[in-house]
Parts: sequence; C-alpha cells; structure tokens
Amino acid sequence: MTYLLALDQGTSSSRSIVFDRQGRVVTMAQREFRQIYPQPGWVEHDPRDLWHTQLETAREALKQSDLRADQIRAVGITNQRETTLVWNRKTGEPVYNAIVWQDRRAEATCAELRERGASDTVLKKTGLRIDAYFSGTKLKWILDNVPGARAQAERGELAFGTVDSWLIWQLCGDGRHVTDVSNASRTMLFNIHTREWDDELLALLDVPKSLMPEALPSSAAFGRMKTEWLGAPLEIGGVAGDQQSALFGQACFTAGMAKNTYGTGCFMLMHTGKRFQVSENGLITTAAAQPAGAQQYALEGSVFIGGAVVQWLRDGLHAIKSSSEVQALAESVPDAGGVVLVPAFTGLGAPYWQPDARGSITGLTRGSTIAHIARAALESIAFQSAALLDAMGRDAVAAGGVPVSELRVDGGACANDLLMQIQADLLGIPVVRPAVIETTALGAAYLAGLHSGVYGGLDELSKQWRAERTFHPTLSRERAAEKMAQWEHAVRQTVAP
Ligand code: G3P
Repeated sequence: MTYLLALDQGTSSSRSIVFDRQGRVVTMAQREFRQIYPQPGWVEHDPRDLWHTQLETAREALKQSDLRADQIRAVGITNQRETTLVWNRKTGEPVYNAIVWQDRRAEATCAELRERGASDTVLKKTGLRIDAYFSGTKLKWILDNVPGARAQAERGELAFGTVDSWLIWQLCGDGRHVTDVSNASRTMLFNIHTREWDDELLALLDVPKSLMPEALPSSAAFGRMKTEWLGAPLEIGGVAGDQQSALFGQACFTAGMAKNTYGTGCFMLMHTGKRFQVSENGLITTAAAQPAGAQQYALEGSVFIGGAVVQWLRDGLHAIKSSSEVQALAESVPDAGGVVLVPAFTGLGAPYWQPDARGSITGLTRGSTIAHIARAALESIAFQSAALLDAMGRDAVAAGGVPVSELRVDGGACANDLLMQIQADLLGIPVVRPAVIETTALGAAYLAGLHSGVYGGLDELSKQWRAERTFHPTLSRERAAEKMAQWEHAVRQTVAP
C-alpha cells in the first residue's frame, strides 16, 4: 500500500492527515494554537507555535496510523496564505511574529501606493488589487518597524517566507528556502506571467530581492525532511496555498470548474486554464496549484464572514449553545420571513470591496423570531457566495466561456445540508459535496503524489474524485432573483452614503 502525508497549516489550527492512494483519510491529528491580537486590526501568530503544532500533529497522525515513516511515499504542505514571516538565515530565529493575512496594519501603505498610481502595474503583473491582505506590505512593515531588520536584510542575512517556506526551512534544516507559485502569487511581489519575483514591485515596496525564496511549481522537489522529525528522510513533493490546494483536491483542473470552501470565511475559486484573466467584476486573479508546465490560473473571490456568522449567533447573540444547533433552529421556520442579515462585521470582501461597511439586520417585523434571524444568517453565507459565483459567471462569459455548471463544496460548514440546499436554490446549479471533504489537505497530498510517481497524471485524480451528495435547485429562477435583489438592497444599506 502507498500512503501520503499532508501537513495543513491553517489560521486557527495545524492539522496532519495520512491519506491512502485512493485519497481516503487514514488518520488525522489537529492542534489549535494561540491567536495574538496586539492592537485592534492586528493579528499575529508565534512562528514557533506554527512549527511545533505542525510537527506534533504529523507525529500523532503517523503514530495513530501504525505505519512506519518509510511507508509514507511523500509529504505535501498546504497553508494559510499571505501570512508573512521573516527570519535570520544563520540562526533560524524569526525577527518578528508572523503577521497574519487578516491583519490590517498595512492599510496606510496600501493607500499611499494607490495614490502613487501603482494599482494598474500591480494588477497587470500580479492579478491582485492593492490590499493589506497580501504579504508585500506586511513584509515592508517588518523591514520598516523591527529595529535593525532593514539593515540585516540589506546585508542578505534575512529570509522572507509565507508559512510553507517557514515549515520547509524547519523540516529540512539545510537552509532550503523555497515556496510554490500559488503561495508566491499572494505576495503582491510575484509576476504571475514570468513566475519570477518582480524587480519593479520589489522596488515599489522597498524589499531587497535577497529576502525572497525560490518559487517552484506546486509539484516539485521541495526538499527532504530531517530524519529526526518523523523517522525517515521523507521528501516534500507538493506545496500549495490552502485555497488553491482545495481547488486541486476537488479535481478542478480545467477552465470553468469551481469550488467553494465554507470555513470561517468562504473562498470561491474558478479555474481559468492557461488564461490570465483580469476580472471586470471585483474578483482577483491567482496562480492555480500546478505541476511543472504551462502556467494555470484561477479567479478568486473571498467572503470575510462565512461560518463566522454562526459563531456570532452562538457567542454574540447567545441564540444557540453550539454551532451544530443552527440547522435545527433555522429549519424550525419555513423561510427567513423577510429578514435579511448582512454580516459585514469587518467590511465586505469580493465582489463588493467595502471595507467600511458594517453589519445589519433588515426586514424585522413584530412576528420575527430568533429562528428567522438564524435562517437569515445561514442565507447570508449563501447570498455572499452566490454574488461571487455570479461575478465569476459574468467574467467567464466576457472571456468567451460559459458560466459555471456545478459548484463543488468543502470546508466545515458544507456539512450543513440546509445551507447547501439554500445555496443550490440561489445559484440554480447543482451543489456537489464530495465523499472526501478534506480537500485542502488532499490537494497537497495529490501534488506530492504526482511528483513522486504515485499517480500517473491528472486524469487519474479526476477519476478518483467522488460525489457524496448533490443538492439540486428547487426554487424557480424568478424567486431566486427576487431573493438576490432583496439581498443586494440590504447590502447597499450597509454602506455609508
Ligand atoms: O487567504 C487566507 C486563507 O488562505 C486562509 O485560510 O482556511 O486558514 O482560514 P484558512
């Protein structure tokens, strides 16, 4: 039997999963770690926590599996993207905490870049809008604010990396300083056409090139793990940012295939094949996870508050005791009774991009109950995702393609049948839940398996993908359009005039 190990370093926990060749989960281990909020709008992780929890879970998953380390053919890494680390090449010591993707401290730098007229250059070269979400301005903040960092960087003593690079540095322990194109494409410093760090962008952000890792395809020789970690010098053969990894794990390999991950937020990606397409509808362009060969792209949209709205029902409103109660509460009423909840708690992401918007509940009547609000909360996840899919469809048609014909789903909240049905009803296309919903980790395992010859090619992986359940739309398109119009009306009200 052949096995693969995936390390999935996420925003709130580190997970490790052993997969068999068929992509089935053999064992899984997970550890949460500390979130650090030094001031409003700032979010940090201790880089040592990321590394230690990751290693512990890898050891635990392997132990539970009763496999020897040398029965693992290869290791794949997938990770929270954009999160920015800088460490000393000689000592391996981080110069500062990891600045997490959610951190907004670099907003002023972004505003300045926009004022200087850099938006067009950034968009054309990276596919991104200038935003504090991406790594580049976080890296600049570290160089400008950590005492001595800039001087050390200029002497070539420091290394920058997203979480994948940091983990590989630790795992290999031989100075390997690498990343993959999907992670690199989230830095705002990487030209996704040439697949190289871009001198003009580095100069724009005042970042010395010596900091940057080598960017490899997502399926490649990233290095060998030190034997002391798991008991064998396992090869790291696959690396991808978590959302691109999920797209890969869902076997969305060709233009027009799309997936949505329902986590704290929602991330929807649509493969666009070899076509670099700039969205006319508020999405960003990103490098898809890819073996060597022609560049592959995707369009992406992110919803900031997805499953987090259920946490708010639990912790803010005390409407439920645990998140799993939300479906029963929402199902206790036939619909939201005209109530619309817009969870713009931290502004609105794609396709609206309204950082100053704030949440609202509209349509309340004397008959509204907490059940209507719970249902409206679930609907808000589906509405936001539907707005993304609509934007993707319009972009696809503008490029001569066709709208997405089915949506593959994963992430914790896709287990909620009611939410998936509401989603299918709004979209008017089937929503398909796969048998293995650990698609983020599976994507990394597949990338590693391709590199080490476990799989012959993408066709084999496509055949391996299985649906567990398909949710078919039951609402008329007219009724769905009315509901979307109600939602869009409520969204407009959340934005200050
Ligand atoms: O872009 C941020 C994303 O990669 C974070 O994903 O699953 O760790 O919240 P997650």
